[in-house]
Amino acid sequence: MKSDGHAVYDEKSRRMVEQMILAEQRHIAQRQQEDCDCKDGMFPRAAITDRRKFLFAAGSLAGVVGSGGFAHAADNKAPPGAFHFDVPDDPTKEQGRGVAADGGYGSRSQFETEVRWRYPTANDITSWSMTPLEKGLGNLTPSGLHFERHHGGIPTIDPARHSLIVHGMVDTAKKFSMTDIKRFPAVTRKHFIECSGNGLTEWNKPTLKTVQGTHGLLSTSEWTGVPFATIAREVGLQTDAKWVLAEGADAAVMTRSIPMEKMLKDAMITYGQNGEALRPEQGYPLRLLLPGYEGNTHIKWLRRLEVSDKPFMTREETSKYTDLLGDGKARIFTLEMDAKSVITFPSGDMKLPGAGFYNIQGLAWSGRGRIQSVDVSVDGGKTWYPARIDSTPEPICTVRFSFPWVWDGKPAILQSRCIDDTGYVQPTLKQLIAIRGSNGPFGSIYHLNAIQSWAVNETGDVANVHA
Ligand code: CO
Repeated sequence: MKSDGHAVYDEKSRRMVEQMILAEQRHIAQRQQEDCDCKDGMFPRAAITDRRKFLFAAGSLAGVVGSGGFAHAADNKAPPGAFHFDVPDDPTKEQGRGVAADGGYGSRSQFETEVRWRYPTANDITSWSMTPLEKGLGNLTPSGLHFERHHGGIPTIDPARHSLIVHGMVDTAKKFSMTDIKRFPAVTRKHFIECSGNGLTEWNKPTLKTVQGTHGLLSTSEWTGVPFATIAREVGLQTDAKWVLAEGADAAVMTRSIPMEKMLKDAMITYGQNGEALRPEQGYPLRLLLPGYEGNTHIKWLRRLEVSDKPFMTREETSKYTDLLGDGKARIFTLEMDAKSVITFPSGDMKLPGAGFYNIQGLAWSGRGRIQSVDVSVDGGKTWYPARIDSTPEPICTVRFSFPWVWDGKPAILQSRCIDDTGYVQPTLKQLIAIRGSNGPFGSIYHLNAIQSWAVNETGDVANVHA
């Protein structure tokens, strides 16, 4: 091995990719154990007979019953977020559970098993987890399945003791308690958040098998909070105020510099997610939301905003989250997420049971505005057809699309391509690499928004390919 440091980095990256592949394999194996008959239609590879056996076993288990008649997940086979109950032969022949038997806060069905899986870093304090996009219904990601990226673990913060300090180039520095922030008029908007490292394993060659692995650092929520512009009027901005440092209250004290133009345009100081308080792993009690910006900038556990005339050049915008180009130069402050789409059904590691009708489905999104249209190809991009848009396109929010496909049983390559309302067309991987180069540790790392290809072979197996 060369001792110039670069080769060592490549070896480290190679091991990291190997670990991700192994983690995904473990997740797939577990999913095949847990899938139930209610998942038919998504066509996972596990044989239906195996799944019936598991269901029977699970149904015959006597749950350990806790308060309110609830069995604790740790004590039985119920998946995370669910409780196990015995299944009656005929639910019309015995009484069900009582109103608010759950203690007043609900849980999901014990037959719904989808979970995030985590990239196996040496510890789970600095790591990330991915959203199972192939199981999603509609645009919103359930709060419990929103992808995560932490650099110093998930802090436990008492909102009564949390505050936001706004200072620097302002007329009057101020400290806002959570009560102060909630007294301001709030807005509610649906936006996706995507990590700019989404798909980082996929630059050089198809690496992970499932859409959860290739695209799962993407989630959509309805966010509620106060526009930063309101806070700015409270403190008064000085003439040369051009940048804001946002700082989190986690053990990593995550910091990023944000252009003031963006902060005043649509930044939100959020405390609500999908109709309730933010989840702890999404920044409870306060998170900076920057619609369309790369995920790392949406500072969680927000405690400080420092106004300045220039960026602060933090670790997260110098050694990380920059894009090394083909000529050896690097792009910096590449903050907007480009338009992107992916087919989530059928997608990698599924198996189509035979020729016939399939409703191809997927998601499209852009950090610059609304999705205008989506095209689908079943021949690797030779022919494109307009997809049906299944939800009303909103700015900087995912839309669902679908395409009715009659599979003739011959090999096919499925692709989707979106156009946003700025006229930007999602590129092929070849087009993207021609502009961006391919010289990072994985080829490149950040901002991979190329068209994704899924190959369907004669036996119906669906695989991640570069086409
Ligand atoms: Co970037």
